[in-house]
Amino acid sequence: MTAEDEQDGLYAGFARRELPDLFAEEGRALKADEALALLAEKIRVCRNCGLALSRRQAVPGEGNAQAAIMFVGEAPGAMEDKTGRPFVGPSGKFLDSMLADIGLARADVFIANVNRCRPPENRNPSAQEVEACSPWLRAQIQVIQPKVVCPLGRFALEMLVDPHLQISKVHGQSFERHGILFVPLYHPAAALHRQDLRQTLINDMHALRDLLHSRGLLD
Ligand code: URA
Repeated sequence: MTAEDEQDGLYAGFARRELPDLFAEEGRALKADEALALLAEKIRVCRNCGLALSRRQAVPGEGNAQAAIMFVGEAPGAMEDKTGRPFVGPSGKFLDSMLADIGLARADVFIANVNRCRPPENRNPSAQEVEACSPWLRAQIQVIQPKVVCPLGRFALEMLVDPHLQISKVHGQSFERHGILFVPLYHPAAALHRQDLRQTLINDMHALRDLLHSRGLLD
């Protein structure tokens, strides 16, 4: 099985098994924003893994239900756990400034994470925790149907594109999967800690802006 076949399974399996239920709620087709709100309600009470025990609150993600572009980080940190919103701490401020730099506001995009609950002491999520949380991200991608998804850092890259790729080797490159273009970028937190990565991330963001322009996804 190729990595692409595995990804086929990821999205097709989800669409078949779970989306019909989601959209059949209330006996009618839900609009994208309604489906996202329903997903957020479910995420807030999720107990799929042990992180539910230590979280203050889950962080479902937020943004535009019609977004052409999505950003996917790793997991909430302290500020996100406190506020219930993604990327509101120092790496979020950096992400906001990079978005503004390429002419995007938070309201234009959708921002989510691989894991919706903060791992204690900001440790890495385990493979089991990533797997347990993965239906939420698949569902949001299915509902939003973005044209471009940017995995931010290793965990999102491994889950969304290919578990064998390294962010240091593939950042800024494009990977087409099922009509979605995945453009992995360094995680903003990594770029905050390492000055040498900071300019690389900014350059990749500028290349992303050019790509979005060329596809008519950015004015
Ligand atoms: N880091 C992440 O990966 N996600 C957040 O929401 C905040 C920090």
